[in-house]
Amino acid sequence: MAGAMKKAILAGLLAGACSSQAHSFQGDPDRGRELYMQRCSVCHGVDGRGNDGMAVDFREEWYRLTRSDEELMDSLRNGLSTPGRYYTAGAMPPQMLDREEMFDVLSYLRSAFMD
Ligand code: HEC
Repeated sequence: MAGAMKKAILAGLLAGACSSQAHSFQGDPDRGRELYMQRCSVCHGVDGRGNDGMAVDFREEWYRLTRSDEELMDSLRNGLSTPGRYYTAGAMPPQMLDREEMFDVLSYLRSAFMD
């Protein structure tokens, strides 16, 4: 509990200090992977390639993951629909994740799909 809180606070400080940097280095990719499989793979696919065109293929559109943590967290919090892009799921629906979960899942996405 105290550890988790400390980590969340630290994550906040780091994000603030490095807001111009693209990469989150404070998330836990293992926890992020679990979350991804439960909540995101329906659309994004277990392999990140988009489930039959439902959503972003993170291998093709890896450049999206170079957006800053704050931009990507905006997409997670509020959902996203990019003009001119068509996915069969329609839009990215807003995700109910806390800040720590967002860091975890972003660190998983970057470690899994940006190699
Ligand atoms: C109902 C389907 C669906 C689910 C569930 C879903 N997404 Fe998405 N996601 C999309 C679609 C569609 C897009 C592309 C939206 C666009 O750019 O038009 C997208 C885009 C994204 C992007 C790119 C954002 C950007 O700023 O370019 C990220 C990152 C992402 N999703 C992460 C996640 C994560 C993490 C989860 C689970 C917590 C998740 N998505 C769950 C459909 C989904």
